Order: sequence, then structure tokens, then C-alpha cells
Amino acid sequence: MTTVYLNGEYKPLSEASINVLDRGFTFGDGVYEVIPIFNRTIFRFDEHMQRLENSLKAIFMENPYSSSEWFSIFEKLIETVEVSEQSIYLQVTRGVTERDHDISLAENPTIFAMSRPIEKKDLSGGINAITHEDIRWQYCDIKAITLLPSVILRHKAKQQGAKEAILIRDGYITEGAASNVFICKNNEIFTPPKNNNVLPGITRDLVVEILADHKMAYSETTITGEELLNADEIWITSSTWEIVPVTQLNNMPVGTGEVGPLWQTVNKLYQEFKSGYCH
Ligand SMILES: Cc1ncc(COP(=O)(O)O)c(C=O)c1O
Repeated sequence: MTTVYLNGEYKPLSEASINVLDRGFTFGDGVYEVIPIFNRTIFRFDEHMQRLENSLKAIFMENPYSSSEWFSIFEKLIETVEVSEQSIYLQVTRGVTERDHDISLAENPTIFAMSRPIEKKDLSGGINAITHEDIRWQYCDIKAITLLPSVILRHKAKQQGAKEAILIRDGYITEGAASNVFICKNNEIFTPPKNNNVLPGITRDLVVEILADHKMAYSETTITGEELLNADEIWITSSTWEIVPVTQLNNMPVGTGEVGPLWQTVNKLYQEFKSGYCH
């Protein structure tokens, strides 16, 4: 049985329900976070809380809870799940109002959180990806629940036998439909800089931190679609998938078509960081 948190109460998932006039339902008016739990420890809690704060601020909402209040909600939810590798999903919407665009009508946010086991897929052998025009809006740095473009993009990838769509806007890579992107060329690692076209991925930032700490050659810089196609290695990153090598792009091999040596090195460093992590 999954226990969830909804507006101050813990209850079985099957008993949790919300009003159909919730603005999350009628407008997609809300933000979310996905936070991995490794070994029952909340991974990069402060970073996720900071991103939540930024997302709420960007949509003119106040954070309903302090970090310590969120922390104790998460701790309770984690206890209800048997396995130690979990992922917390939390969502804050602007709450229930008449169906009117005006946000001043909103008084009480709807606050929902749950923790579920991470379904570990072994993607270490590499995945296929496609490239696609970035069809999303211009506030991609907000972790908004309004995810229809990403849903369509993931579906298009799946229709072509791929797991992810790598997005290109005005000739430059932004990110994946639900991941950040890294490429390697001549032993150097590149990832697009953070701006309004990219979600500031917590995994992305951690990978950049690891590269800096280990004095590896890397740069946060614009990457053209052409550079992506000619990369020696491509990786995508996200909290639940971690670092995944892309070995086929648009049905063509990436580099040798095998998982590359830089991925091996960086993934090992990431796994070491994870196993030594304590909040
Ligand atoms: C659009 C997008 N970019 C990047 C990411 C990766 O972010 P994180 O590493 O914080 O999971 C996600 C995660 O879902 C995403 O949806």
C-alpha cells in the first residue's frame, strides 16, 4: 500500500483525491520536484529545495513549507516504503478556484507528496535517442507540471524505438525531454549552459561538480546540432536514470557505437559519490 501526503494528512493513495477545480487539473498551474532517495537518505535535499523555491517564485507562489517541514514529511513517507532506493514526487498547485486565469483568486495551495520505489532499469549498455526540434515554451527553467510537450516528445522517441528525444532550438542543443545532455569530443566534456531553455538538473550540476573536483576537461557551452551528431560520446542525466550513455542517435552509432571510456570514468565517480553520501 502506498501512503501519500495530501494537504496536511497522510493517507492511502486510493483514498487521496482532489477537487476537479484544482488549478493543477484545469490549468496545469503548479510545480513539482522528483527527489531520489538512496539508501534511505534524501539525495541533494538542499539543492532540490532551492529549485522548488525558484520554481514557486517564478510562478508567483510562496513556498507553503520551510525546508525542515518538507524534510519531516519526506522522512515519514520514506519510512512507509520497504525498499531503500526510492523517489519522492512532490507537487504544489495553486489550489482550487473558479476556472479563471486570475491568480489572485487562489488562497490555499494543494500540496501533494509520495515516495515510490525507483524502478531500476539497467541502461548502462547504452540507449537510443532521437533529435527533435525543441517545441516547448521559453520558461523551461521552471519545473512546471505542464508537461504535454515532453509527453509528446517522449512518445515520438518511443515510436522510433528510442528512449529519449534530444532537443534542438535555433540550431543549438537545449536538453532531453526529461533529462540534461552532455557530449564528449576529443577527451573534453561539454554541456549546454543553464538558461531559460534548460531545466537546471540536480544530476547535471552534480556531474559538473564531479568533473571540476577531478580536474577533468569540461566546459559549459553552447553545442550545435552538428556537434551533437559528431560527438564521440553522448550522455543524458536525470535523478532517477542517473548518467546514461546514448550509443545510437537517429539510428546512427554515436562514436564507435559502444559505451565510451569517459562515461565509464564519470559514472564510476558518480556512483562513488552516491555511496559515500550522507545528508
Ligand atoms: C526537462 C528536464 N530536464 C532535466 C531533467 C533532469 O533533472 P534532475 O537531474 O534534477 O532529475 C529533468 C528531470 O525530470 C527534466 O524533466
